Amino acid sequence: MTWSPTSWKQKPATQQVAYSDPAALTRVVDEMGQLPPLVTSWEIEKLKGELARAAKGEAFVLQGGDCAESFDDCRSEPIAAKLKILLQMSLVLVHGTRLQVVRIGRIAGQYAKPRSADVETRGDVTLPAYRGDIINRDAFTAQDREPDPVLMLRAYERAGLTLNFIRALTDGGFADLHHPEYWDVSFAQGAARERYEVIVRSIRESLNFVSAITGVESEALRRVDVYTSHEALALPYEQAQTRQVPRRAGWYNLSTHFPWIGMRTAQLDGAHVEFHRGINNPLGIKIGAAMTTEWLIGLLDALDADRSPGRITLIHRMGAKNVQSKLPPLVEAVQRTGRTVLWMCDPMHGNTETTPGGIKTRRFDNIVDELEQSFSLHTQLGSRLGGVHVELTGEDVTECIGGSRGLTEIDLERAYKSRVDPRLNYEQALEVAMRIAGHLRGST
Ligand code: PEP
Ligand code: CO
Repeated sequence: MTWSPTSWKQKPATQQVAYSDPAALTRVVDEMGQLPPLVTSWEIEKLKGELARAAKGEAFVLQGGDCAESFDDCRSEPIAAKLKILLQMSLVLVHGTRLQVVRIGRIAGQYAKPRSADVETRGDVTLPAYRGDIINRDAFTAQDREPDPVLMLRAYERAGLTLNFIRALTDGGFADLHHPEYWDVSFAQGAARERYEVIVRSIRESLNFVSAITGVESEALRRVDVYTSHEALALPYEQAQTRQVPRRAGWYNLSTHFPWIGMRTAQLDGAHVEFHRGINNPLGIKIGAAMTTEWLIGLLDALDADRSPGRITLIHRMGAKNVQSKLPPLVEAVQRTGRTVLWMCDPMHGNTETTPGGIKTRRFDNIVDELEQSFSLHTQLGSRLGGVHVELTGEDVTECIGGSRGLTEIDLERAYKSRVDPRLNYEQALEVAMRIAGHLRGST
């Protein structure tokens, strides 16, 4: 079948909604197709190059952000807080590993959610499930749950506003190590905070030393690249921003640098695989415990026929209990193909559980356990774990159990804000970065 930005429509599309007014959907897609892109092809190609380096062991990738961004959180504080924790985690990783760290936010477009059930029932009322702010609204009324195509435009605009703010911050000194206020960890406590402060102090001293000797303040130290990613789930949205650009061959999805295919939409003959095979962006593929070697090889053949370096990142999310039995056959199968892919661990999605009180949570210990097992398994197999994918927030929420402050089930009620999956809070995220740095230092 010939690929086009709309050829996915010929294939079965899971996790999509039926809009009651198809003409309204067409109007939105047409309008979005005229608006300027959110990212550029040269940024996308630059990221692809960096992912290729990470696949070879020359860089490490940190991908993190919300499970689902909400329109309400498109405000300066949550965005700045998320950026800050990503930068702080990356600083810890750079310091610990002496590798370049590639930073990718689950941000500026992470608005669509796959759901295990199409409907939600409360009492004797059954309504369509909430699928993220790009599709419908969270409140439990028939009107709010009705899919509304105009929400795609609102999502595009908020993605643009978010990205604009991130670009301004990262260009304008927010990432500048000479500004201690951006790097402070005032609401973290305990050992992680102390270790972090030692790292920042030592980096700052080295910087001062270099600038004192050379008399030059390096511009490179004042700004950083932060790339965006999201699950490319809502295909009309992705299609509308998929374009050809002057002087480059092929098509780019300019809604994000790094789209990924979720575990629930990775069917070989499905619409999501069809859509992604035709775009030039680097692609993430989530792989869970249900992934088979045949399926995985099929995905690689379909999505990376040219074996292009940096094209594929395999994001495994097996769960601490399953990773040891499920990961090695997949790594070995990819090794037999002779392909170089970037392996990344998502230690969040295989470790979700529900408390007896009915709250969705994740245990910090299981998250770290899956990460540590993943590092060791790759090493044993002659492979390399080149990145980590986490759900986090820069705020002081209580959604995951454990961490240095020892959050318990009782704490979950205090500051549980996520509408979807539980995220690491600021302090837990920093601690995860320290553990990863420790591991990488040990293995390099
Ligand atoms: C997610 O990343 O939020 C998600 C839904 O992941 P997965 O497809 O791996 O379950
Ligand atoms: Co999630």
